[in-house]
Amino acid sequence: MHLLETRDLTHIYRGDVRALEGVNFVAERKSRIAVIGPNGAGKSTLFKHFNGILKPTSGEVLVRGEPITRENVREVRKLVGLVFQNPDDQIFSPTVEQDVAFGPTNLGLDDETVTHRIEEALHLLGIEDLRERVPHHLSGGEKKRVAIAGILAMEPQVLVLDEPTAGLDPQGVADLVAFVNRLPEEYGMTVVFSTHHLGLVAEMADYIYVMDRGTIVGSGTVEEVFTRPELLTRTRLDVPPIPKLIRSLRENGVAIEMAYTYEDAKKSFLDAYVRRA
Ligand SMILES: Nc1ncnc2c1ncn2[C@@H]1O[C@H](COP(=O)(O)OP(=O)(O)OP(=O)(O)O)[C@@H](O)[C@H]1O
Ligand SMILES: [Mg+2]
Repeated sequence: MHLLETRDLTHIYRGDVRALEGVNFVAERKSRIAVIGPNGAGKSTLFKHFNGILKPTSGEVLVRGEPITRENVREVRKLVGLVFQNPDDQIFSPTVEQDVAFGPTNLGLDDETVTHRIEEALHLLGIEDLRERVPHHLSGGEKKRVAIAGILAMEPQVLVLDEPTAGLDPQGVADLVAFVNRLPEEYGMTVVFSTHHLGLVAEMADYIYVMDRGTIVGSGTVEEVFTRPELLTRTRLDVPPIPKLIRSLRENGVAIEMAYTYEDAKKSFLDAYVRRA
């Protein structure tokens, strides 16, 4: 039994827009999964199926082996938390603190637990100083962090982040990567995210789904996907700079270990040039 699964999921929007066709997706506990693909590929549509916001035109979505139904959708939303691509679709309370409190309060938790969850979420996102602010007046990146904190405070087993780094400054991106990477080990969470920042994928994911025109056109580990440049270029994507550079060096006869993340690449270079010298 998988934690989250879609079987042959098809979604046709009104006006005969075929946004998903026969999508088979699986997420296990404590995994970090990236969904990549060009604009309009169907990433956000897929994510909205993970906790029953959209209903399949055909096929099904299973959470812990159970198909999502009208009866269990509330339970499903405790397990699968979705942070929307656009934070304005999600933030509506008069203060940041109240906004982050909304989810846990709705779960019926006692005041002490809600307070604790708010503090932890504000702390993890580094937004303690925003707590009294009006969400509507925050900057784009600040809003994004508030939206993530609000879902995180519900402590879902699966945290689904639709383009979490869009609009964040470089330090904000680095903080988000560090935050996401703590969740599986420290909190036992599964993280599913979409991004157009392919350079971040190796830093944040163990497994990748590549989408194009509503279908999954490839999937695999970071290594499996990033060693198939034709798969990525065919879908208007590209191999990120680090594996691209090292691959090219190797093709030109440089004896260096393949690497996908910054830290691994640094190690490969040091091994190849410094320690050997
Ligand atoms: N509410 C809607 N009604 C009709 N069509 C829609 C709706 N939402 C999305 N679509 C269409 O469905 C397709 C998939 O859109 P979706 O937002 O899932 O793509 P995406 O991969 O998230 O793209 P992006 O990278 O731009 O966020 C697109 O062709 C889009 O125009
Ligand atoms: Mg989208």
